Amino acid sequence: MLNLIRKRRSCRKFTSQNVEKEKIEKLIKAALWSPTSKNNRPWEFVIVTEKEKVEKLSQCKPHGASFLSQAPLAIVILADEEKSDVWIEDCSIAAILLQMTAEELNLGSTWIQIRKRMHNETTTAEEFVKNQLNVPSHLKVASILAIGYKEKEREPYSEDILLKERIHYNNF
Ligand SMILES: Cc1cc2nc3c(=O)[nH]c(=O)nc-3n(C[C@H](O)[C@H](O)[C@H](O)COP(=O)(O)O)c2cc1C
Repeated sequence: MLNLIRKRRSCRKFTSQNVEKEKIEKLIKAALWSPTSKNNRPWEFVIVTEKEKVEKLSQCKPHGASFLSQAPLAIVILADEEKSDVWIEDCSIAAILLQMTAEELNLGSTWIQIRKRMHNETTTAEEFVKNQLNVPSHLKVASILAIGYKEKEREPYSEDILLKERIHYNNF
């Protein structure tokens, strides 16, 4: 696991190869097995493989999402906030487990922030995403994961960048 953590780097350039159904099934299991507070499981996931829809989602905000248009797969992470007051934590855990599983399957991924981001001056990124995918109004959008085969492998993290001074033993 530590090696996978070291190897996982955000990937924003993908080859044109589609993600196989079997790999998508594994990603779905990772998401649905992720832990949630009180086992409430407040999340919902939209698996987007239709090119035009992925392309539309890439326009969700002006910065930090355009690369999604080249990804063969987007996973949109939603939650019902009525089901859990800590849905953000629950969605974040599902997202990182999805990213780690993607890495294990030799896929690259990047988290695209949607919550608290704007599409334009009047529409939130969340509203935009919900409109594209017919998401029921009571659900929140946490993030989108862009997933696909990596165009090239990035350098894994090295020991030098560990912020060791941030670790405190027994007392701050
Ligand atoms: C909460 C969160 C939000 C992020 N939002 C975006 C985003 O909107 N667009 C993007 O390209 N990358 C986004 N990222 C990816 C980060 O930029 C990236 O993880 C960070 O620079 C560290 O690089 P690494 O993933 O290669 O380790 C996000 C990451 C996190 C954890």
